[in-house]
Amino acid sequence: MSPNQLDAKSQAWSALFSEPISELVQRYTASVFFDRRLWKADIQGSLAHAEMLAAQGIISAQDWADIQRGLQQIAHEIESGTFEWKLALEDVHLNIEARLTQLVGDAGKRLHTGRSRNDQVATDVRLWLRDEIDGLLALLRDLQRALLEVAEQHVDSILPGFTHLQVAQPVSFAHHLLAYVEMFARDEERLRDVRRRTNRLPLGSAALAGTTYPLDRERVARTLGMVDEHGAPQLCLNSLDAVSDRDFAIEFMAAASLIMVHISRLSEELILWMSQNFGFIRIADRFTTGSSIMPQKKNPDVPELARGKTGRVVGHLMALLMLMKGQPLAYNKDNQEDKEPLFDTVDTLRDTLRIFIDMIGGERDPATGEKSGGLGVNREAMEAAARRGFATATDLADYLVKKGVPFRDAHETVAAAVRSASARGCDLAELPLVELQQFHPAIGPDVFEALTLRGSLQARNTLGGTAPAQVQRQLQRHRQRLGLAG
Ligand code: ARG
Repeated sequence: MSPNQLDAKSQAWSALFSEPISELVQRYTASVFFDRRLWKADIQGSLAHAEMLAAQGIISAQDWADIQRGLQQIAHEIESGTFEWKLALEDVHLNIEARLTQLVGDAGKRLHTGRSRNDQVATDVRLWLRDEIDGLLALLRDLQRALLEVAEQHVDSILPGFTHLQVAQPVSFAHHLLAYVEMFARDEERLRDVRRRTNRLPLGSAALAGTTYPLDRERVARTLGMVDEHGAPQLCLNSLDAVSDRDFAIEFMAAASLIMVHISRLSEELILWMSQNFGFIRIADRFTTGSSIMPQKKNPDVPELARGKTGRVVGHLMALLMLMKGQPLAYNKDNQEDKEPLFDTVDTLRDTLRIFIDMIGGERDPATGEKSGGLGVNREAMEAAARRGFATATDLADYLVKKGVPFRDAHETVAAAVRSASARGCDLAELPLVELQQFHPAIGPDVFEALTLRGSLQARNTLGGTAPAQVQRQLQRHRQRLGLAG
């Protein structure tokens, strides 16, 4: 390409083409208005490539110096908003390369030696995503810490545990929150795993078959930090695969979808819990909105939107899977369509995590270091709800079993007691002893111990159970895992 051919008015890639493409086709095929977001990774990749070309004697030391100088200036122009992005130059890669040639002449034209946009774009997306994953991992840990901090205050707060959304057994609110910490801990593991496979180098694969130049791919991988935990360079080892598959992005979106699904489940609970019928929690006003017609309303817009945006992220995962499924080897332009869903997934997930960290944990006042405005918990409402709905019915059955009654018989006996209490509109613990004894003679005055909410919790002392001692144990484990003191 000569410098004037790289002018925006002409076609970007060669003299082979005899007619200009229409404005519509240009817009349809261009990606610069979304892939310019990859500019930092693009420059980073070009620098690593050029440094290696010079080290291998493929370009001169002077060319390398010129390329460095030019790319630095371009980075500065992009950062300061003076860089002129041109639609006619199709994508971020050609825009930067054209400007480089404008700035440093022939050295700029030598940058693309032994490289194709196919291995270039695959490298850029991987570099960009790797760094985004690091940011998301930090947020995911902050969200776990926020949940943990609330949980620590509520080991002894009791709410009804549900199955089928019917009152089942009492559980500790801390235990309930720690269930989400477990989910997000697995999400963290998944993201770390995806990061390993994302952090591998396609550069050196060129268009699809490798290249005739004596490239040192391992050197480039090291420069770009594409190394494993022992510092060994991580390379894509089949050139056809390297330029064409986007499975790392698909995996990432699957992991992102799961995180959103977990956030969506939490959202659904927050929405239920803050409704008048539950009244278990409050979320700070800044995460809610009012109604334009009903003055009494405070709507949980943030959790509702998070639940809604989960559909959007899962949709992006589907889009990428469909994008891939019919493609023959190697690179096809279809792959340009990977970017907008991927970018939107990262943006949506990042914003959602940030907002949830604040909504659950509160915001820290930079001056005082005090946190305020996190999740408000109404322990009394939770306990009152646990006392309704016969949450300790299983405990009565277990009590009878311990007195020698076979479990199935005990189950029947308790069902009869529940029916009777229900008819009288009271809880099992509110039935007088003589009446309870009518259901089974083995029932003694110690039964009321078993029928209390706290007795019920204490009794579930198996590893991973809701007894306070077990919950403390898990809290401690998570504190250590998340690097919190104590
Ligand atoms: N903008 C393109 C993309 O995002 C870059 C790779 C173009 N390669 C090609 N052979 N046309 O995929």
